[in-house]
Amino acid sequence: MRRKVIAGNWKMHFSPLETEKFLNELVPLLENKAGLDWIVFPPSVSLFKAKEKLNKSFIKFGAQNCHQEQKGAFTGEISALMLKELGCQYCLVGHSERRQYFNETSMACNLKIKALINQGITPIYCVGETLKEREEGKTEKVLKEQITSGLKDINLNDSLVVAYEPVWAIGTGVVATPQQVEEAHKLIRLCLADTVFNQKRAAEISILYGGSVKPENSQELSMLSQVDGFLVGGASMVAKSFAQIGQIPL
Ligand code: 13P
Repeated sequence: MRRKVIAGNWKMHFSPLETEKFLNELVPLLENKAGLDWIVFPPSVSLFKAKEKLNKSFIKFGAQNCHQEQKGAFTGEISALMLKELGCQYCLVGHSERRQYFNETSMACNLKIKALINQGITPIYCVGETLKEREEGKTEKVLKEQITSGLKDINLNDSLVVAYEPVWAIGTGVVATPQQVEEAHKLIRLCLADTVFNQKRAAEISILYGGSVKPENSQELSMLSQVDGFLVGGASMVAKSFAQIGQIPL
């Protein structure tokens, strides 16, 4: 049985003080919702505050990025080893904003994923096509490339979550249709079975959808057999909306 995950990517929002304020509001709202895996992704400077505030909660937290080396002369970077000490159980890898603005390739993601796995942190590997790629009929090719190179040489029992985030649906208010989501998730799972793991292991991997998810559209998408939860941006920073998105069948 795949775990259902509701994850909130705060991107470059919420300072430590704002994180404290927000979690004070969110934690009580999620009180009776321990059946799902709830994860928040604050910016790195707020991770320590998240650790402090979520100490006694089932809500988990993770980082939005990491460096592939454990330590060294990499000014401005943070390693998986450091994230582990901070209590991160998850880390996003390959978010389209990192691919777009920081030139992150699937091969670079692969190194980060391995570094995280070595520290016992679960990577949430983000994949997704741009509008141009979709219009040119390249969605399948792009997703396959991102999955095969990003997850090269990952072991069968390594902990992993995948997030499908079509770039054209992120922050645009345009949500992918249920059919588009189901098709892409099926393709990703097939690719996981054929090129990364095997069918049995691929069937166990949670695949989340991300891109303009809101309480108004999450119900319909959560009914899809291939959707195991959501990676939410904007709506995850409104406590009530985030909690509402988690009202999905288990
Ligand atoms: P929005 O939900 O704001 O579209 O962002 C999605 C996202 O990028 C989550 O990682």
